[in-house]
Formats: sequence, structure tokens, C-alpha cells
Amino acid sequence: MSGGPFRSRRAAAMPESVFARMDAAKDAARRAGREVVDLSIGSSDLPPPEAALAALRDAAFDPATHGYALHAATRPLREAACAWYRERFGAVLDPEEEALTLIGAQEGFANLLLATADPGDAVLLPDPGYPSWAGAVAVAGLEAVPLPLEEGRGFLPDLEAVPAAAAARAKIVVLSYPNNPTAACADLDFFARAVAFAERHDLLLVHDFPYVDLAYDEADAPSALAAPGARERVVELYSFSKSYHLAGLRIGFALGAAPAIASLRTVKGAIDFNAWRGVQRAAVAALATPRAQVREGAATYRTRSRALVEALDEVGVPTDLPRASMYVWTRLPHGATDSVAWAVALAAETGVVVAPGVGFGARGEGWMRLALVRPEEELRRAARTIGAWSRTRSR
Ligand SMILES: Cc1ncc(COP(=O)(O)O)c(C=O)c1O
Repeated sequence: MSGGPFRSRRAAAMPESVFARMDAAKDAARRAGREVVDLSIGSSDLPPPEAALAALRDAAFDPATHGYALHAATRPLREAACAWYRERFGAVLDPEEEALTLIGAQEGFANLLLATADPGDAVLLPDPGYPSWAGAVAVAGLEAVPLPLEEGRGFLPDLEAVPAAAAARAKIVVLSYPNNPTAACADLDFFARAVAFAERHDLLLVHDFPYVDLAYDEADAPSALAAPGARERVVELYSFSKSYHLAGLRIGFALGAAPAIASLRTVKGAIDFNAWRGVQRAAVAALATPRAQVREGAATYRTRSRALVEALDEVGVPTDLPRASMYVWTRLPHGATDSVAWAVALAAETGVVVAPGVGFGARGEGWMRLALVRPEEELRRAARTIGAWSRTRSR
């Protein structure tokens, strides 16, 4: 594929974003005077911990935060992340060798691919999956080999079914549970099998783990790093966007296999100067949030998911209850199959905006994702709107 003027082959290889189209549809609905109920993006509407906001405010007026933050300046957050991991999952990690701060899990993922695989290598990538993964794979010049997530298997991939040739070409396998968009969970046995698979094929296992705190039952979100042998070949990516409702701050951390962490640090050294120290201080403060308070987020999303699923069921859109996350994943009603056309028309004609399933990969076609980022009553209203609108559309 040729790049064209001022366009690299890598930019040209980026998949088209369905979400840019949804953004345009949203904008058109707004301009047409519709009240927009945006359930298309997982941007939390819940309050961040006050201590994190206070740390941020105080840091703004502390000149010690205003300069570049080199690696040593990230030590307090790396230490806090390892202490948090020990408290939550029981293992002691080394903040120097096994931890790195990130400008969000998304940035960490993209740079981790650049740091640990070479152009032409393959990556085993869940389908459906978080859309920016596919973009990161294209930027790094890698080949995406889809790992189908089937409803009948609880949206867990069948690793034994990966063709031998694809496993041999691959350098990385990507997993993410609690899962976006399917809201599925995996247990530690699954991760043990996944680590054994990664060992067999000499793969790095990247576990994108931003929903660590959003399993409705805490036991449903084990750490892949806790599986036997994982410390040698797993990198786990953490975010403050979902647990602490701080998506705009752009902060996260990576924990795991020391050689991969070292490679990521090298690549990031050419790209960024780490998050602002004030943001890092806010993150340290957030990690000290009492567990009961952190769990309130999961409880709110659980209550909202029950309300939304009940309302969808009532209007003839049968939907499974999620066990985790801030999403409900369901088939389009009345056998609709073109999720983009369906979601664009829904937005234009009603103002309710959902994420079309195909935006998460070919296996998402025929599905939609609704983010639980509005209060319960608004979600119920949106479900009734969807029910009434889709009945008229299917006539
Ligand atoms: C699987 C997954 N990874 C990463 C992210 C982004 O995390 P961050 O805000 O830390 O970049 C999201 C956000 O929705 C996500 O669902």
C-alpha cells in the first residue's frame, strides 16, 4: 500500500475508525436539535477520588513539578503501583525492573508492540476487541491474526484452535478480561492455560487490564501475572481511567516481564517524557483510595446494567447480564445485521448513540455496545427509545 504525499505507509494502513463516523452522526443529531444520549464511549461519569484532585491542584502551584520528569521521577508512582499490586494480588514486584509508568494503557499498548515485535511479525488479537489495538498493530507494521471470541465459549478464545503456522509467526498474544466490548470475565485457570500456550510458542502475553476494578464480584478479575510462569512472559497494562474515573488525566502503568518492560522504557524514551509529576502525584493518591470506595464504581455499573438489561428485555431486545465492566453487549434487534448503518440511523433519528459492534472487529458485526455512563433512568429511557425505533424500522 503506497503512502501518498506526506502519508506514510503506516498511516495509510491504519484501519478506518467507525467511531469517527459515530462522532459525525452524534454531531449531526445535535445540530438537528436532538437531545443526545451518548452511550457510545466508555468515559466514566462518576466522581474521581477527592485526594487525587487535591494532589493535582496542589501540584500545579509547586514549582518542583514543572520540569521534565525523567525516569527517576516516576519512582514514587512505580513504588505505589507495586505496593498496590501486592495488596490486591499478593505478589511482590520490583518497581525498578518490573514496573513502568504510562500515559494511559492505550499509549502503553502501542509502544509495547513497537518495543517487542518487528515489522512483519504476527500478533494474536481478540476479535471483537478494543479498536485502538488494531491501529497500534498497523502502526507497528505487524500482522493481526484474529483470535475469535465466540459467545458460546463465554467470549474466551480457543487457543488450541490457533493454526500452527500463525502461532509460529506470532510474537505476541493479546488478552483483556474483564473484556471490552463483551463484558466477559476469565478465571485464573484460563490465564494459566494462556501462559502455557505463550510458553509453547515463545510469545509475550500482553494482558490489557483497565477493568481490574470493574468486575461486579472482585474474584472475577484475577491478574494474568499471578498465573504460574507469568512473570517471565506477561506484561499487564493498568489504567486510572476506569477504576478512578480519571480518563482525561492520561495515566497508567505496566507491570510484568522485566525484559519487555526494559524494551518499552527504551522506546518510550524517544517518544515521551512521562506524565506530568502532578498527574503522577494524583495517581499515587488515587491508589491509596480505600477499597470500599473503589468498589462503589463497580456497584454503580452493576445496578445500571441491571436496569438497562431489564428495560431492553421489556422492549424485546433480549440481553445477557454482564458480570463486569461499564458495558452491555447485545445483538441488534429484529435481526439487523449492518451495525454501522443501524447505529447511524438510530443516532440521527432519536439522538441515542451506541457503539456499532463491527467497530470492534468483524466478529462484532450484528452487535452493539452500550456504555453505562448515564444515570439509571436515562438508560431505561434510551432502551425504550431503541425498542420503539427498531420496531418501526423493522416494519
Ligand atoms: C481494553 C482497553 N484498553 C485500554 C483502554 C484505554 O485506557 P487508557 O485510558 O488508560 O488509555 C480502554 C478504554 O476504553 C480499553 O477498553
